[in-house]
Amino acid sequence: MERRELGKTGEKVPVIGIGGWNIGNTRSREEWDKQVASLVRAVELGCNFVDTAEIYGDGKSERLVSEVLKGQRDKIFLATKVSPNHLQYEDVLAACERSLERLGTKFIDLYQIHWPNPGVPIGETMKAMERLVKEGKVRYIGVSNFGVGEMEGAQESLSKSELASNQVEYSLASRLIEDEILPFCEREKLTVIAYSPLARGRIANTIPQTVLSKYQMSPAQLMLNWVTYRESVVAIPKAAKLEHAEENAHSLDRRLSTDDYGLLSKLHA
Ligand SMILES: NC(=O)c1ccc[n+]([C@@H]2O[C@H](COP(=O)([O-])OP(=O)(O)OC[C@H]3O[C@@H](n4cnc5c(N)ncnc54)[C@H](OP(=O)(O)O)[C@@H]3O)[C@@H](O)[C@H]2O)c1
Repeated sequence: MERRELGKTGEKVPVIGIGGWNIGNTRSREEWDKQVASLVRAVELGCNFVDTAEIYGDGKSERLVSEVLKGQRDKIFLATKVSPNHLQYEDVLAACERSLERLGTKFIDLYQIHWPNPGVPIGETMKAMERLVKEGKVRYIGVSNFGVGEMEGAQESLSKSELASNQVEYSLASRLIEDEILPFCEREKLTVIAYSPLARGRIANTIPQTVLSKYQMSPAQLMLNWVTYRESVVAIPKAAKLEHAEENAHSLDRRLSTDDYGLLSKLHA
């Protein structure tokens, strides 16, 4: 699996990771085990960047991820998120403790602010984030769903750390970030973590057969190949099904040519 530097951290993460939304939220033990197996397989295949959030399934996603981490914490780059209603200083610290407990780990690799909250000064949140870094509970700080002004504010509020990433929606079907957010991240060397890179399962049915045959790839694989074409982007598709996890892990086996990247971009402009 190809890897790319996360922001300016020097840390390399896989270009295709794993999304954790809507996993763990099941009453069936069989379904739970299948989801764990799918994530474990994805990690085995090199997609060892696992993204979750305290809000997903009210903590159940983090609990499921804790099973994936068992015996292989050192192999996984673990990202989670603090919710926008927990951005006051003490709340950030408490939310992080709860996530660490649910995840069964002593540290989070990337701790992200899930959504901005204009009601809480960003400086207050970042002060807590930097304390968590100092205490070794968090390695890198990221944001999610931040616009350009909000990213600038976040960067300016950090005194000892660099902002590493912004997690935003990006796919062939959703290209809003190309106007301002993506160029800003490229200029500032922040990684764009593309969420919903498979358009939440609405897989593109417009990719020409000639392109599918040329690369011998599925439409989902080409969507992931397309979304990670730019050096600044990594993607976190969610795959509860083992066959999806395996398919996604092979989506970069052949890279789209510049011409075909352009063709797919034009078709979905
Ligand atoms: N920061 C945020 O505000 C935010 C918002 C949304 C999402 N996210 C993150 O981004 C992750 C991914 O986004 P998402 O879950 O919204 O959507 P997504 O990854 O675009 O799509 C997931 C859907 O695609 C299906 N799928 C996966 N691989 C496939 C394949 N090879 N062929 C056909 N279908 C396939 C999955 O099915 P199965 O699961 O059944 O395999 C699932 O239904 C989330 O899990 C979460 O970690 C973050």
